Amino acid sequence: METLQFKNGDVLPAIGLGTWKSEPGEVYHAVIEAIKAGYRHIDCAAIYGNEPEVGEVLQKMITDGMVTRQEIWITSKLWNSAHQPEDVKPALVKTLQDLRLDYLDLYLVHWPVALRSGITYPKDADDFLSLEEVPLIETWKALEACVKEGLVKHLGVSNFSIKKVKALLKEAEIPPVMNQVEMHPYLQQNALVAYCNQHGIHITAYSPLGSGDRPGRLKKENDPQLFEDPTIREIADKHLCSMAQVMIGWAVKRGTAVIPKSVNPERIRQNLAAANIPLDTEDMQKIAALDKHYRFLNGSLWTIEGNPYSQATLWDE
Ligand code: A2P
Repeated sequence: METLQFKNGDVLPAIGLGTWKSEPGEVYHAVIEAIKAGYRHIDCAAIYGNEPEVGEVLQKMITDGMVTRQEIWITSKLWNSAHQPEDVKPALVKTLQDLRLDYLDLYLVHWPVALRSGITYPKDADDFLSLEEVPLIETWKALEACVKEGLVKHLGVSNFSIKKVKALLKEAEIPPVMNQVEMHPYLQQNALVAYCNQHGIHITAYSPLGSGDRPGRLKKENDPQLFEDPTIREIADKHLCSMAQVMIGWAVKRGTAVIPKSVNPERIRQNLAAANIPLDTEDMQKIAALDKHYRFLNGSLWTIEGNPYSQATLWDE
């Protein structure tokens, strides 16, 4: 398995199991199947609403001797309603309790968007706090204190533009080592990947298969369909593999981590095996030509009329 390396010698297996949209009840078996298949990287978040089930299964797998805590990489994410410095550690501690762990390998700021304490999803503009009211660096300083306490080993961000990463790098004492962003053949983000790599920040590709199971409110009319793409189909046929494996293999070959979500045992195994698909230069060039800079997840939940965030300020483009 390809790995991503960190300065302190830690290594992250490139392919991890995504758990967004994995229902409680389903995620338990998905994690068992994944660990049995050889996954050693699980991507979680408080907002996914399933960390208690992930914790139950992690504890079982560790107790049963299937895997040790040190062998498995666990990522989680700070939700938008816990950006105020005094809310940061309690949110992390809750995640650790739910996951039944005493430390996380990686903790990410889920979105560069702040909500008032207690607001899970905003209903109107009053539910937001602006980044002037709660600057990202203040949230970050509270996260740095959690690293110093040994609650988390590495810090990162998610959904951050080059501009926001740059601003954070200027002020952070402990620099971010990961930016997790939507990434697939229709949203390749070459400039962001290059910038992050130059500054010692790895990329994790989320929604690498286009998250076709996302809730209806996050779907747009005329969303393109990765699974109908003739070029990806052609490359899959050439290598006698699935289209999903082409998309995951492409992400690995680009040097990013990638977290396909599945709750289906066969697909969980298939997705891990994507690391072995021998995509060649021609395949990579053909996929490079598919880029449309298309976001399936454009952050529309955060850009309600009249609030401090817009598509332009969210993505800085
Ligand atoms: P399922 O969980 O039933 O396997 P993303 O990782 O981009 O969020 O995409 C997740 C979606 O892709 C889910 O609907 C998931 O369904 C599906 N999926 C995961 N792996 C595969 C695969 N190998 N082939 C086809 N669909 C897949």
